[in-house]
Amino acid sequence: MNVCSEIINSLNSDIRGKNFYTALELERSGETILKLNTGNPATFGFPMPESVKNALISKLDNTLGYCDVRGMVAARNAILQYHRSKDITDFSLDDIFIGNGISEIASMVSTALLNPGDEVLVPMPCYSLWVNEILLRKAVPVFYKCDEENGWNPDTEHIKSLVNKKTKAIVIINPNNPTGALYSNNVLLEIAEIARQNKLVVLSDEIYDRLVFDGKKHTSFASLAKDIPVVTMNGLSKSHCLCGFRCGWLVISGPSGQRSLISEALLKLASIRLSANAIMQTIIPDALADTTYTERMLAKDGRLYEQRQATFEELDKLDCLSYVKNDGSFYVFPRIKPEYLEYADDKAFAHQLLLEKHILVVPGSGFAYDKPDHFRIVMLPQPDTLRKAVKEIGAFIQGKTCL
Ligand SMILES: Cc1ncc(COP(=O)(O)O)c(C=O)c1O
Repeated sequence: MNVCSEIINSLNSDIRGKNFYTALELERSGETILKLNTGNPATFGFPMPESVKNALISKLDNTLGYCDVRGMVAARNAILQYHRSKDITDFSLDDIFIGNGISEIASMVSTALLNPGDEVLVPMPCYSLWVNEILLRKAVPVFYKCDEENGWNPDTEHIKSLVNKKTKAIVIINPNNPTGALYSNNVLLEIAEIARQNKLVVLSDEIYDRLVFDGKKHTSFASLAKDIPVVTMNGLSKSHCLCGFRCGWLVISGPSGQRSLISEALLKLASIRLSANAIMQTIIPDALADTTYTERMLAKDGRLYEQRQATFEELDKLDCLSYVKNDGSFYVFPRIKPEYLEYADDKAFAHQLLLEKHILVVPGSGFAYDKPDHFRIVMLPQPDTLRKAVKEIGAFIQGKTCL
């Protein structure tokens, strides 16, 4: 008899899946593996912001007790200012909840909103957290297409065709993981209209909102849809390279009736887990005030910019791949052209790439992508490492020992 829940079998965590454990085994046997599977800046030498270090030291004494169930007031005030500055207006301090990363926040939101059998629209490809959280509530993820030909923007006609009486919510991830797409305001407005007409709650994961390149601007979904219940999620894992702090939050905005229902449900859930980690909350005001740290990474001589440029330059030299330049985040999601598709599927491709070239990538299927020809590159290593890696991937696909 299996002592575990049946749901466990339906979950998928390819980012740290079988290939990841093979990579660890290879490392134990003395091989060097370039692990491009996780968006974890600290592992590639991105330092802690000085502003955060100073705040941490000076506020350490405030961190001993369980804190406010929703999160420390000073931290929530800073979060409130941040989201007001992005023109989300219809919410108060009580509509903000701080959690141990968006990962915990997503779990709380899913529990608060979903009944078994509810359908939730999720992007395809999709960062796996959302699909798993929906499945854990015995609800049903229904995938809407994001269109590679249209900069990986969501296909709103497809979204419309999927809505039915069971549809409860729609998840958007903007900027997106794994595609790096920054959605156009038109697409956001069209999604808002679909949500409005069908009374859907919108769950907007905006963890990469500060990581946008080339002077482009991120628009918060909730700023375009003030009459709709929206849960906007954000955190410091990526913009401040603090994945290990487990610092995330949500803001509920929209009509006051639904807002207070969601807020009350979340309050109950937050109370059950007592409080989020207090240490990370003390640094939120200083981190959000420190925009320079993130801006430096994105500037023309900044690491994220240079790494992205290096990756593009090498990808441009390859016949075997096509790709859409990412406007946000630090991911790119290339496609292997049909004439170069030699493996049974993308999983087999990623596995063989790991064994032969010692490079670990996540195949498209790890993001619930339904075609067997995509994989994600995490553009966090130094430019030279990325150049070499892309060359090696190209050589591998083209069946050569090197290019
Ligand atoms: C789209 C997206 N949402 C949420 C997370 C998880 O964030 P956190 O570290 O706040 O749990 C990630 C991490 O990669 C992500 O890519």
